[in-house]
Amino acid sequence: MSDVPAPARRPEWDALEQHRAQGLPGLRDLFADDPSRAERYVVYVGDLRIDYSKHLVTDETLRLLRELAAAMDVFGLRDAMFRGERINTTEDRAVLHTALRAPRDAVIEVDGENVVPAVHAVLDRMADFARRVRSGEWTGHTGRRIRNVVNIGIGGSDLGPAMAYEALRAYTARDMTFRFVSNVDGADLHEAVRDLDPAETLFVVASKTFTTIETVTNATSARAWLLEGLGGDEKAVARHFVALSTNAEKVAGFGIDTANMFEFWDWVGGRYSYDSAIGLSLMIAIGPDRFREMLDGFRIVDEHFRTAPPEANAPLLMGLLGVWYNNFHDAQSHAVLPYSHYLSKFTAYLQQLDMESNGKSVDRQGRPVSWQTGPVVWGTPGTNGQHAYYQLIHQGTKLIPADLIGFVRPIAELSDGLKAQHDLLMANLLAQGQALAFGKTPDEVRAEGVPEELVPHKTFQGNRPTTTILATELTPSVLGQLVALYEHKVFVQGAIWNIDSFDQWGVELGKVLAKRVEPALTEGADVPGLDPSTAALVAAYRERRK
Ligand code: F6P
Repeated sequence: MSDVPAPARRPEWDALEQHRAQGLPGLRDLFADDPSRAERYVVYVGDLRIDYSKHLVTDETLRLLRELAAAMDVFGLRDAMFRGERINTTEDRAVLHTALRAPRDAVIEVDGENVVPAVHAVLDRMADFARRVRSGEWTGHTGRRIRNVVNIGIGGSDLGPAMAYEALRAYTARDMTFRFVSNVDGADLHEAVRDLDPAETLFVVASKTFTTIETVTNATSARAWLLEGLGGDEKAVARHFVALSTNAEKVAGFGIDTANMFEFWDWVGGRYSYDSAIGLSLMIAIGPDRFREMLDGFRIVDEHFRTAPPEANAPLLMGLLGVWYNNFHDAQSHAVLPYSHYLSKFTAYLQQLDMESNGKSVDRQGRPVSWQTGPVVWGTPGTNGQHAYYQLIHQGTKLIPADLIGFVRPIAELSDGLKAQHDLLMANLLAQGQALAFGKTPDEVRAEGVPEELVPHKTFQGNRPTTTILATELTPSVLGQLVALYEHKVFVQGAIWNIDSFDQWGVELGKVLAKRVEPALTEGADVPGLDPSTAALVAAYRERRK
């Protein structure tokens, strides 16, 4: 891999720059010239219909982008990932989240060992435990059944299960309470447990490394809360704490019996982990069968990504469209705008997936990149965003490509009256895509009798690109499909930018410095090497805390 030339020094990159410089017609003209793009620029995967017709691309653009992907050997790297090769070179690790959803009879080897039996052994243990908790067979220390599950974790050990719990709320055990604590701000744990009965509460401590300070601190406080509530008997811990980790030694050191630990492996990245043991609290919420349906959904997209030709390969296309704007239109960000209340945490989840993966400024060989890498990913559920920041997307000076995600059917549980609101919700999604793409010309504004001085204010330029992802219903399988779609999109972009999408060294410095600064805050300790600005802030903090 050491001979991989920089993407930006390739003829395929130059060809895209020239193509961009030639200028493309706007979306009104593109559709006028070729209305069939509404059908041709759609790709299907599993239950997802992905419409990319409202992008500033032609057949030629797409061909040139695919040539760049071929030149960067995206599919070669993809195959190496699926084979279990150590493509996370800076950590010398395989990248095998796809093995987490492989069928029982699959063979995927890491260092000559088939990892699939271990994956299913853990899934079976999780299923057994989840069933026991859900049925009341697993009781707390005082014999009461567990009614509350509190997941303690951060980053990939929080965002995935928390997002998926929200997304699949309609499928959850409604007679149980699920909470997710991540922030080391004591307020997070306080609010999560203040109305809970410790005798009925199970803590799921989720940490790949089991060294993450926020998680260990919160878990320690949760333990104290539990023991205080249950009379101080240490034996209670075994009935109220389970761990999800790759690090048995640290789990035991913390005081959780490793018999209550659900394992995963170093070839699962934190942000790719919620379909591993990290999903235990979700599995308790939705039950093992629904969890397996979700894994099936992931697998549908894995298979698609592995086998679909470039022209019809959804993650490849979505990755390439992102590259087109990020690298050839100076777009700085990418909005993900779900038209589903249940997907309220989806974009936050994608922020870690995308930005921790592709927020890099050296390539796989350690050379500084001279091209843009990962975009800022942002967004909230669509209709709320419409009344907040869509103004900037419609009329601001920045180009913000966006994904609009919607469902044909609302969840079955809604009353008929609330179900009737669904068409209005989806009308908003469709209207936004249309307005962003086609805008409103000055002549159209004038034709409405708008005074001339207001015409520029009421004109919409259009040509704001969107992808519309439509599925029938937000089921566990569809959620798995959506997540895998974005996982592989991120993979494609990392491969094109020739960066390691699977390490996260950029989070380390802050962690080290926080440990160093803490004694300065608590004890007023002298911290060697503290810069003058931070030293002044430490002094101001201590002064005001007196
Ligand atoms: O933020 C860095 C990070 O290592 C993430 O990649 C990870 O998801 C998170 O911290 C939590 O790590 P752990 O699961 O080891 O507690």
